[in-house]
Amino acid sequence: MKKNTTKSREIIKRDNKVMSPSLTRPYELVIDSAEGSTIFDVDGRSYIDFASSVAVMNIGYNCKKVKQAVCAQMEKMVHCGFSDFYAEIPVKLSEKLCEMTGYEKVFLSNSGAEAVEAAMKLAFWYTKRNSMVAFYRAFHGRTLGALSLTGSKIKHKEHFPSFRVVHSHYAYCYRCPLNLEYPGCGISCAGEIERTIFKRELSPKDTAAIVVEPIQGEGGFIVPPPEFHKEIRRICDENDVLLIADEIQSGGFRTGKFMAMENFDVRADIVCMSKSIGGGIPLGATLSSGGIMSWPPGTHANTFGGNLLAAAGGLATLEFMESAKLGEKATEKGNYLLKRLNELKDKYPIIGDVRGIGLMIGIELVEENKAHATEKRENIVKKALDGGLILLPAGDSVIRFVPPLIIRKNEIDKGLEIFEEALRDT
Ligand SMILES: Cc1ncc(COP(=O)(O)O)c(C=O)c1O
Repeated sequence: MKKNTTKSREIIKRDNKVMSPSLTRPYELVIDSAEGSTIFDVDGRSYIDFASSVAVMNIGYNCKKVKQAVCAQMEKMVHCGFSDFYAEIPVKLSEKLCEMTGYEKVFLSNSGAEAVEAAMKLAFWYTKRNSMVAFYRAFHGRTLGALSLTGSKIKHKEHFPSFRVVHSHYAYCYRCPLNLEYPGCGISCAGEIERTIFKRELSPKDTAAIVVEPIQGEGGFIVPPPEFHKEIRRICDENDVLLIADEIQSGGFRTGKFMAMENFDVRADIVCMSKSIGGGIPLGATLSSGGIMSWPPGTHANTFGGNLLAAAGGLATLEFMESAKLGEKATEKGNYLLKRLNELKDKYPIIGDVRGIGLMIGIELVEENKAHATEKRENIVKKALDGGLILLPAGDSVIRFVPPLIIRKNEIDKGLEIFEEALRDT
């Protein structure tokens, strides 16, 4: 289809006039509608979506079951002030979340950052301590608490005040921060918390929690080796510190399991979920045991947590995820995509590393000597977009592959064709 950007240009011009310039939007894509794994722009062009609107649309766009549930709830009532009154649909959603995760209590909110804020406050309240440990390259959101945990780009943090958070090394084996090699390293990066941080910088007696992403997302789709999270869990247990897992990007069957931590056989004390569990409707959830989430009335609440539309959409999303076996689909399609990307890696030296679990996959682009190919990455993403494929960057030179979990094999093939063309051009 011939590109006619008149409408796009006009909307972008108006957008630039009124929208906060803090949003990073380097791609001139003005979205109009979507179906399944395909997005349509306002000028009638279609795109295969390998980004799922930042790992949100795991169920695909325009899912009938979720649409029906939200419309039915809309007919009845939109909002009820759940922090002051009772209603059944948010209870049903929370019961479903507990059934799927094995946790006992849920705090409902509207976004990832809010789910993280609730987890931080809960850990501070439960332990009566005031500090945390997080990881370099971590991304936990932009509100001040979540931002304190975030350890990705300095631009995210400059000029903003912070809680007391000490950052440690994540298991980024492709570029080991300690210049060691797995498995001979003995997961020395995790050991850094006990070896250095707890001895010289932050006492475990002041540490409420260690906060970790099962797979680092925004930081570069970094998959740690199997022992990493077990070692972090051991450190938490032996030092009487809580473990908080941020499943906001990795959860919702993206890695085959409902919670990505299940791939590592590790259970956190507090879990944060958002993005995909609302099926596109703003929804956050912080989960824990009844023992930990025992804070009394008034310690934490919000206006829109338990919103009826979000709860109806979330419940229908979780039910659809199960009935459509999205976990199995993520594993099957993810293995296929990994295999195809590894074949491209053998062909194009710019692909330095391919890594992922299920449909949470990243490729790291490199120049000679493993230097980050950041500029080339931008070119590839832009060329792919021109060719009809939506990709998103992560980390310094990573491209993420996080399509809807309902994506078909022929759509993966078509997307990879466009991607290879962009690679070849670059
Ligand atoms: C792991 C993780 N945690 C937290 C967040 C913040 O979520 P939100 O943007 O909904 O506040 C994100 C967003 O990308 C994320 O990837």
